[in-house]
Amino acid sequence: MQIERLLQQQGFGTRKECRALARQGRFAVGGDILDDPFQDLAPEGLVFRVDDRDWPYFAKAVILLHKPAGFECSRKPRHHPGIHTLLPPQFLRRGLQSIGRLDEETTGLLLLTDDGALIHALSSPRRKVKKRYRVTVRHPLDDVQLAALSSGVLLNDDPVPTLPAEVEWRDAHTLLLTLTEGRYHQVRRMLGAVGNRVEALCRMAVGGLTLPADLPEGQWRWLTPADLEQLWEHPA
Ligand code: URA
Repeated sequence: MQIERLLQQQGFGTRKECRALARQGRFAVGGDILDDPFQDLAPEGLVFRVDDRDWPYFAKAVILLHKPAGFECSRKPRHHPGIHTLLPPQFLRRGLQSIGRLDEETTGLLLLTDDGALIHALSSPRRKVKKRYRVTVRHPLDDVQLAALSSGVLLNDDPVPTLPAEVEWRDAHTLLLTLTEGRYHQVRRMLGAVGNRVEALCRMAVGGLTLPADLPEGQWRWLTPADLEQLWEHPA
């Protein structure tokens, strides 16, 4: 693939901008500056440098962001900055979007990709991919609330009860809730339906992929092939 095309596909600008980028000597592979934008490179497994940063080539990119509170997942955020402001600009240019959404105030594991098939597969209700949340609530939890959350509750404006969920009591104000659906504000509405209120919400896992303990809020990393496999497993 020609360098100009490769850079454009990876989100570094228009063809013209990418041609200029290479001609300015800002593109390198293995320490060698390659300034002919029409030079052919084998993209698979390639790691290239633009200015002072290395980038692995990915035909489709999948990243994991530790979402902080106060950021909107929407591409056109209205009240808070968008999550894209936390990411390198080429991710937005190459069309990365979040797989599902987390509320502004929700923190935790958020996946973004430009792989439409992956978005579709992970969002499909038929696949029942589990999402685990750590929920901190205002009022002490009791057995009645936990039993109702586990068997399914009615949400306002929705005649169909929520599907059975896995509920793990942690302490009087904390539980782990694992859902297989993704209705609008589902966790907050479920806790509201049992007479409680969410004070803090963090997504801890999607499928068998857990939020890495060493990834600070606001930071992102690439998903490895092993991570991608874990997505289809059950939470540990
Ligand atoms: N449920 C919610 O209520 N909010 C989220 O961000 C995710 C799940």
